[in-house]
Amino acid sequence: MLTFCLLFLLLVKRAEVRDIDIAECLYKHIDVRYRAISDEKFVFSCDSPSVDPASVFNSSCLYESKVKWYWQPRHNGALTLLSHKTTNRVHRGNSLWFNPITTDDSGTYICRNGGRCVNIFIDVQTKKMAHCSDNLRNYLEPAVEQGESIACPGKKCFSHLQHLPDRHFLPQTSVKWYKNGKQVRLQKERWGLKLKQDKIILHAVHEKDSGTYICDYMLNDSNTRWTMRTIVSVFIISKDTQSPPTILEPSGKRTLEAELGKPLLLLCKVQFGFERIPSSSVQWYRQIGKNKELLQNTRVNSRSLGGTTFSDHFKLMEVSEADLSSHFICLAQNSVGNSTGVFKLKRKTAKALHFLLALCCAIITVLGLFLGSTLAYQYWIEIVLLYRNYMAKDETVGDNKEFDAFVSYAKPDSSKADSTFLNEEQFALEVLPQILENKYGYKLCLTDRDILPGGAYTDDIVNAVKKSRRAIMILSPTYVNGQSVFELEAAVNTSLEDKTIKLILIQFESFQEPQSLPHKVKKALRVLPRIAWETSTSPTDNKQFWKKIRYHMPVKHTKGTEAELPSFFTPLVTGHEKPLQEKSG
Ligand SMILES: *[C@@H]1O[C@H](CO)[C@@H](O)[C@H](O)[C@H]1NC(C)=O
Repeated sequence: MLTFCLLFLLLVKRAEVRDIDIAECLYKHIDVRYRAISDEKFVFSCDSPSVDPASVFNSSCLYESKVKWYWQPRHNGALTLLSHKTTNRVHRGNSLWFNPITTDDSGTYICRNGGRCVNIFIDVQTKKMAHCSDNLRNYLEPAVEQGESIACPGKKCFSHLQHLPDRHFLPQTSVKWYKNGKQVRLQKERWGLKLKQDKIILHAVHEKDSGTYICDYMLNDSNTRWTMRTIVSVFIISKDTQSPPTILEPSGKRTLEAELGKPLLLLCKVQFGFERIPSSSVQWYRQIGKNKELLQNTRVNSRSLGGTTFSDHFKLMEVSEADLSSHFICLAQNSVGNSTGVFKLKRKTAKALHFLLALCCAIITVLGLFLGSTLAYQYWIEIVLLYRNYMAKDETVGDNKEFDAFVSYAKPDSSKADSTFLNEEQFALEVLPQILENKYGYKLCLTDRDILPGGAYTDDIVNAVKKSRRAIMILSPTYVNGQSVFELEAAVNTSLEDKTIKLILIQFESFQEPQSLPHKVKKALRVLPRIAWETSTSPTDNKQFWKKIRYHMPVKHTKGTEAELPSFFTPLVTGHEKPLQEKSG
C-alpha cells in the first residue's frame, strides 16, 4: 500500500501543472467553523461542507497528492503551506490530523479540492474556556464481551450557553457519530449497537469495535454556528493472560549445524497472551558452563486481543570455537512467568565430503545393479533351476501321465557307424537315461525299451507321446531324412491338441532341412528352441547342455534329485559326478 502511494505521488508530481493561486481563496467566506478542545486529538477534512455527510474523512492515499493545506494563524498571520508532516500535524488522505491540537493551532485552514477552495476556521479552546466538566473521556478500553456506552466528550462543554436567555436557536443539536470516518448507523450486522441520548450503547463489545469515534454537534454561540467536534479512541481489550509465554520454536533443545567463521541466524518464535500493560520481552543469552551472558533484549507489545505470535532473531556474525561449546538460550517472559528454548551448535561436516560420499553411494548402486543384472542374465537357467528345486510346485503330480519325456531318435545304419564317436542311438539309450533318470529322477519313454512290441507302431507312438509330459527329439541328418520324422510329426500334432506336452529339440548333428518335410514339422523346427549337443566334450561334462535340458523338463521333486547350486554359489559342488564311460564300440 505504501509503495503504491509513493508511486502514485511521483506520477502526480510530474503531471502537476502549476500551483493554484491560493490567494484567491483567502477572500472567500468561511465554509465550516470548528470548535475543538485543546490537548486532544482532532481531525478535519478538505470536504465541501454538507448537512449530513456520510463520512467525515477518508484516509485513502489517492487524496494525498491532490490536497494541499495552507494555514493562516488567527490574527492575520501570513499564509503558509503546511508541510506534509510536522510533529503534531499529519496529512492523511483528504484530512489533517492533530495529535494533540493546541490553542496555537487556531486559525484559518485553506485547502483546494477539485479546483474548489475550502476554507475552514478552527477555534481551539481549553477545557476551562469551554466550560467543560472534568470527566471528559477521550480514551476507552472496554473489555471484550462487556457492555459499554460511549459518551460524546464534547457534550460536557458549553453547558453555560444553555442558560442564556433569548435564543433563537437551540444552543446545541443532538450528536452525530462517526467511526473511522464513517457515520455510525444502526445495522443488522452490529445488532447490539444502539444510539441513545447522544451515546453509543454497545450490548457486548467485539474486537471490531476498536477505532476512532468522532462525535459532532452544532453549537450556536454569539450568533455563530459552530461544529463542535471531539474524538473518542476506543480500544477493546481482553482479560490479562494467566500463563507465561509459550515457545513455539525451538521446542525444547535444538541442535544446529554451524560452520566455523560463517554467520548463523537463530530464530525464536513465541506465543504471548494478551496483556493490558505490556511487560513481555524476548531475551537471548549465551551460556558457557554456569556463566550466563545477556546478548539481546527485545520488548514485545502483547496488546493484541487473540494474543501475539512474535519471532525474534539473533545473529551470530561469525561462529567461533567458543560458540560450539556454548548454549544459546531464548527466554520469553511476561508478568506471569517465563519459558525458554535452547540452541546447541554442532560442527558441520564439509559439503565436499558429503558430496563425495553421495557420489560413492551412487556409483556402488549403479555397479551393483549392473552386476546383478549381468549375473541374472548369465545364470538365469541356474536361478530358475534353483528356484524350482526349493520353491516351485511339482508339475507332475496328478496329471495322469506316465512318462516325463518321450525320446525320439533315429537308428543309424550300423554299417556306417563310426565307432570313435558317440552316435545318437547311444546318446538316447545310454547318456540320456544316465543323466535324466539316474541323476535327476525323471522317467523316460524309450521306444526300444519301454514300448512292448505287438501293437500297431504308429498307434503305439502316438499313445506313448500322449502319456508323456515332454517329447525330446534328437535331430540329426539321419533323423530328418529317415522314418523317425514321423515321430516328430506325431509329437507336433499331439502337442497341438494337448497343451501340456512340450517339445524339446536336441540338435545332435547339424543337418540340411529336406524339402519333403511336412509343413507342420517345418514350422515346428523354425519356432521351437533347439539345444545343441557338442560332440567334442565328454557327455557328463557338458554342464550347460544338461542345465538347458533340465530347464525345459517339467518341475519334479523326487528323492533322488540333488540340489545343484548354481556355479556362482559353490562352484565345486558338482565335483563328485562320476565321468561317464564312453562307449568304445
Ligand atoms: C524464570 O522463571 C523462574 C521460575 O519459573 C525463575 O526462577 C527465574 O528467575 C525466571 N527467570 C528470569 C530471567 O526471570
